[in-house]
Formats: sequence, structure tokens, C-alpha cells
Amino acid sequence: MSLMDVYFLEQTELNVPPGNDWLSESEILCLSRLRFAKRHDDWRLGRWTAKRAVALRSGLPASPQMLAKIEIRPAPSGAPTLFFENKPAAATISLSHRDGKAICAVTAAGLELGCDLELIEPHSDGFIVDYFTAEEQLAIAEAPAGDRFCLLALLWSAKESALKALHAGLRLDTRQVIVRLLEASDLNGWRPLRVHSTEGQIFDGWWQRTNDTIRTLVANPSPDLPILLKTPFVLPTSDHGAGRRLASLSTSPFAAREFHRDSSNPNLDADLYEVAPYGANCKDSAVRASDDRGL
Ligand SMILES: CC(C)(COP(=O)(O)OP(=O)(O)OC[C@H]1O[C@@H](n2cnc3c(N)ncnc32)[C@H](O)[C@@H]1OP(=O)(O)O)[C@@H](O)C(=O)NCCC(=O)NCCS
Repeated sequence: MSLMDVYFLEQTELNVPPGNDWLSESEILCLSRLRFAKRHDDWRLGRWTAKRAVALRSGLPASPQMLAKIEIRPAPSGAPTLFFENKPAAATISLSHRDGKAICAVTAAGLELGCDLELIEPHSDGFIVDYFTAEEQLAIAEAPAGDRFCLLALLWSAKESALKALHAGLRLDTRQVIVRLLEASDLNGWRPLRVHSTEGQIFDGWWQRTNDTIRTLVANPSPDLPILLKTPFVLPTSDHGAGRRLASLSTSPFAAREFHRDSSNPNLDADLYEVAPYGANCKDSAVRASDDRGL
């Protein structure tokens, strides 16, 4: 069985241009209705990341005019759907924004796809009891103390990815999707996982840790190793604004697999490419705990 190609892009608030000329008229209207600053900023960052990802994936120029033609409209479920020039576009996307960062995964039309970004941070015992299955709670309890919150973030993120792939979100009980980490060697920092729903659906996917961030991505049919979409190289300039404009106005289409680094955001490289060495520990303890109970 051939695995599906799934592409992804991450952007931070630093990548988002100050103006809104890359949004469509209806998106500008939607943005104007978002009263809370955090939601406003998250929404803009998510839209920017999704439009850039779709343009990169499709080899379209990243001009504001072109990006404004790529629209992400919410389905009644809240799931993002893709339109190009007001017509449904042949691609599936999933979005997550967290703490000034966003990820967008893109794949072929008709697939079930979910992605999520999560921060590794402390949570109460009550949170674990309320949202995780008995097996997951045991895996968390058995993890070495230093790995516990990493495992917690990983299991939570994989659940959210699966709930997005199901187009359900938190309307479903998070205990209706059960995460299993699979034994495999590290592939560019990615490790495999599988999520089963109590209704019998299965999503295969991947997880990766970078510093204090966990990213997960699941799909059905099974996805191949995620492919990072890379933004074009921009010559360093003393005028940071001009560098940004140059990046967003670049008109040369480029293939998704080519290496392009966005020098307008030096922090992004560190965020994307330095996979924390102890990410493996987090996974090892989870796999051991899962294996013990035959998960
Ligand atoms: C999907 C959900 C679990 C993600 O929550 P989160 O972890 O706080 O946020 P993330 O940043 O990881 O993901 C948010 C993105 O998920 C996507 N999303 C929202 N609902 C979705 C759904 N049902 N299926 C798939 N994707 C969904 C959206 O693209 C959203 O970003 P956007 O609103 O800016 O377009 C949550 O939004 C949810 O449960 N939504 C459904 C219920 C709902 O809509 N409640 C609010 C009604 S006003």
C-alpha cells in the first residue's frame, strides 16, 4: 500500500506581514469581527501559514494578490476548507496555532488529516483523569518524572490531531481516541504513532519534539514521513521590512521538496531544525509503558 504525501509549514508571528492585503475581502470582514487580541492574532497567523503552505505546495507565487485568492473557510464543524478564486480547491488542510507559532498540513483532496502543536507544560492530576483513558493514565504515571509532561503533551496533541481528522474537535470525548506510540527509529526527528477511535477508525501519524514544542500529524490513508515546505531564501538586508516584503512578493514558483530558508526570521531555523535530544526519552518511556500492557 502506498503512503500518502503530507506537507507541512510552520510560521511564527514574526513571519506575518503587518498589512492585510494578502487576505480576501470576506476574510478581512471575518478578522474585523474578532474582538479578542489573542484570537485575532492567532487567526491571522493561522491564515498566513495556511496560505503560504498551499502556495508553496502548489508552486504558486507568494504575492499578496495570489495569497488573497487562496481562502480558508470554516466548515460548520470549524474544520478549515480550502477555496481558490471562490471555488472549492482540491486539497485537504489542517491547522493549529499555539503560543505565537502555527502549523499547517496540506495533502490531497478527500483525505482525513489532522495536525496539532502543543507546548510541554505542567498539568494537574485532574486534567489527566478527566481527559485520558485508563491505559494512557497508566503510561503517564509510569513515565520517568522528567518525561511525564512531554508524554502528556504528546498524547494530548495526537488526540487533538485525530479529533481534527474526524472533523469533531472537542465535541467528542477525548477518551474516544486512544493514542499508541509505535516502536521505530528516529526519522529526521519524527517517530510514528497510531490513534484508534472507539468507533473503529484508525489514524496513522507522526510526532516530533523541538525544544518545548510537540507537533503531531495524523491522516487516513496512512501518511508517509511529513515533508517540510521551505520558504524562499531572502538576502539579508538592513531594512528588515523590505526583506519581509521581498519574501512575500517573490514570484518564482518553487517545488515543495526544494530547500529554501527564510532569513527574515533567524529564530525559525532554530525552532524547526533543532530536535531536542531528550525527545527520544519521552517516547521511549511511553513505548515501554505501552508495551507492558500490550497496547
Ligand atoms: C479543533 C479544536 C479541538 C482545536 O482547538 P485548539 O487546540 O484550541 O486549537 P488549535 O490551534 O490546535 O486548532 C485550531 C484550528 O483547528 C481547526 N478546527 C476547528 N474546529 C475543527 C474541527 N471540528 N475539525 C477540524 N479542524 C478544526 C481550525 O482551523 C482552527 O483554527 P481557526 O479557527 O483559526 O481556523 C477545537 O477548536 C474544537 O473542539 N473545535 C470544535 C468545537 C467548536 O468549534 N467549539 C467552538 C464553537 S464557537
